[in-house]
Amino acid sequence: MSVILAIESSCDDTSVAICNNGKITANVIANQTIHENYGGVIPELASRVHQQNIVPTIAQALKNANVTKQDISAVAFTQGPGLFGSLLVGVSFAKSFALALNIPLISVNHMHAHILAHFIDDPKPTFPFLCLTVSGGHTQIVLVRDYFDMEIVGETLDDAAGEAFDKTAKILQLPYPGGPLIDKHAKNGNPLAYKFAEPQIADLNFSFSGFKTSILYFLRKKEQENPNFIAENLNDICASVQHSIVQILLSKLKKAAKQFNISQIAIAGGVSANSGLRNDLQKLADELNWEVFIPAFQYCTDNAGMIAIAGYHKFLKNDFVGQDISPKARMEF
Ligand code: KG4
Ligand code: ZN
Repeated sequence: MSVILAIESSCDDTSVAICNNGKITANVIANQTIHENYGGVIPELASRVHQQNIVPTIAQALKNANVTKQDISAVAFTQGPGLFGSLLVGVSFAKSFALALNIPLISVNHMHAHILAHFIDDPKPTFPFLCLTVSGGHTQIVLVRDYFDMEIVGETLDDAAGEAFDKTAKILQLPYPGGPLIDKHAKNGNPLAYKFAEPQIADLNFSFSGFKTSILYFLRKKEQENPNFIAENLNDICASVQHSIVQILLSKLKKAAKQFNISQIAIAGGVSANSGLRNDLQKLADELNWEVFIPAFQYCTDNAGMIAIAGYHKFLKNDFVGQDISPKARMEF
């Protein structure tokens, strides 16, 4: 019997979840809207808002799961990677909570947790599988051999896929985070309206910084011809940008599947909420006979449910950490 309380605070969302014997019974997320005004997450502001949100978010999660503090068997928390000040709030709270209740502490790597979100609901993948993890800070193809036996076989050399979405959105003067807004406008646009050069990167790696620049130059040129170009063609621009990013991601995923002879394919991270990626992955899967695993929306973007399930699998192995633990902004995979 186990009840794990999990805390996620790596970036701008404060989230607390409860995992009761392997089932997620609460997953509360307090979003921070303050960053919308700045076009990106401001680390100092993020950690202050985490401090304000953490206590009420814990209280709400306990209430939703219908448990009390005394029922908790262990506390799991995101140790890294992420913003140091943000992580510090979650790590410090988790340590104090565990100390006060005299229960074990479990450290979780945020990037492992995005992948382990696939073990929250059915259908669950079987090992080994490949996972394309695409978030605001990372773009990785991971060979997953077991819960905590994972190897990065391809990754971005510069910007992450989420950054490509967000930076393009900024150029289009859409508020932060722009990924979901590009997705929304893309639904009413033509994905083949405009073509952008695909980066030519070796192996299973990615690069998005040149791609972003090519969009910027394209839009500048078009705006010289027609100052209202963006406003008049927003849906087509979003659909074309989204289509290009999705094609870049899927072509490398296809290459990886072939190279490792694996047909169980998963996606994870905030960008896995993208409808274009979800649809095109499903089409590719039908064509190539892949079995695909796509997390529920609430477990794609940052959430403590994924930290709780990762914590649960560590709890089963008695894999605990001591009070001397500290956050790691750049945590090794
Ligand atoms: O995993 P996540 O919540 O946070 C990080 O660990 O980075 O990912 C956030 C990223 C942001 O770049 C956001 O724009 C992107 O995920 N994102 C999306 C969508 N929903 C979130 N990008 C494209 N389409 C979406 N529907
Ligand atoms: Zn994340």
